[in-house]
Amino acid sequence: MSKPSPTRTVDRSHAEALDAADPLASWRDEFVINDPELVYLDGNSLGMTPKRTVAAVRDVVETQWSGDLITSWWKHDWLNLPLVVGDELAPIIGARPGEVVVNESTTVCLFQLVNVALDLGSDDERRGGVVAVEDTEFPTDRYVVDGIARLRPGVRVRSGLTDLDGVDVVVRSLVDYRTAALHDMAAETARAKAAGAVTVWDLSHTAGVVPVDLTTAGADLAAGCTYKFLNGGPGAPAFSYVRSELHDRLRQPIQGWFAQQDQFAMDEPFSARHGMAAMMNGTPQVLGLTAARSGISVTADAGIDAIAAKAHALANYTLDLADALGLRTSTERPPASSGGHVSVNHPDATELQVQLADRSIIVDKRDPDVLRLGLSPLTTRFVDVHTALTTLHELCDRAPIRS
Ligand SMILES: Cc1ncc(COP(=O)(O)O)c(C=O)c1O
Repeated sequence: MSKPSPTRTVDRSHAEALDAADPLASWRDEFVINDPELVYLDGNSLGMTPKRTVAAVRDVVETQWSGDLITSWWKHDWLNLPLVVGDELAPIIGARPGEVVVNESTTVCLFQLVNVALDLGSDDERRGGVVAVEDTEFPTDRYVVDGIARLRPGVRVRSGLTDLDGVDVVVRSLVDYRTAALHDMAAETARAKAAGAVTVWDLSHTAGVVPVDLTTAGADLAAGCTYKFLNGGPGAPAFSYVRSELHDRLRQPIQGWFAQQDQFAMDEPFSARHGMAAMMNGTPQVLGLTAARSGISVTADAGIDAIAAKAHALANYTLDLADALGLRTSTERPPASSGGHVSVNHPDATELQVQLADRSIIVDKRDPDVLRLGLSPLTTRFVDVHTALTTLHELCDRAPIRS
């Protein structure tokens, strides 16, 4: 299909036509929409509420917790819920059964995985190592790495990933949280391996919107959250992935009783379970896991390839419209970007975010000058993007539409 002219792109009927032709359009009905007028472009921070999640959480509260009480840990297999949900998430990120666990926050998962990566080569936890991370990486990733260096004498942090000579561990997001730039996971994992480094991938802006294949990309370790494109709910537990070939060498620093071989033989010294069970810590967050499981099931049912195709279409449309309206963007076109969000740059981003919110248009902001328009393929319509960008254009009082 040929690209429409800027005048056609700006015409709202073009967005309406794209929505009418969208094969995923009906998925929006699967979500709770209290205010039909609200334009919600922040699903890349917190995905909307799937209707099935309301029912699933209610069932766990009313039937399992209220009815079966403590026996639910066995009767409803709550004990293994992090592993069960991990297996349900695995196909969406190209992992194999037994390679994913869902628990804790992304921050805790990263802390565990960076330590796992440092310990892969040796049992000596006093061993040092160089961990490389970009200055522009998401703050929690950088803070975790700095904290590990504080705890483990001999571990040093290097900023920048251009030269990996002498680096042991690389920590990096697959999709940049500011620009949506998408790295080549297979090529970058191989480049790190060639330098003798293992990579811990942060898939927070990837899972549920980009079709990654951890297995074929040769990825070793990864973590990411479930409350963005996977619509798992506020504070929903994150996931950790460890390639099965590394399970025999997996040692993580938080030695909790859920990772213990015989959990209820209370007096035994710690001896870790095998595989991803070794990444468990304390009591799993059953309600959060229930919501995460439900969100993951929506993505699984809609299909990650269809979701990614719409993400690309939404990103291209958003960039075309921004160009036609003379708005400045710092997101490349798919496939160089993830398609999960588009960043519009403006020096008055803070004020513009407030003014958009006053008009029931919710977008995200990242300092110093980025307005992030989250494009969640299951809930975002092309007309939502049209409303947001044309309103932004009016607010900015920009140059006339380029034709
Ligand atoms: C790239 C990235 N990593 C990590 C996190 C947050 O991790 P946590 O689940 O610990 O809050 C975010 C949150 O937005 C993120 O964008």
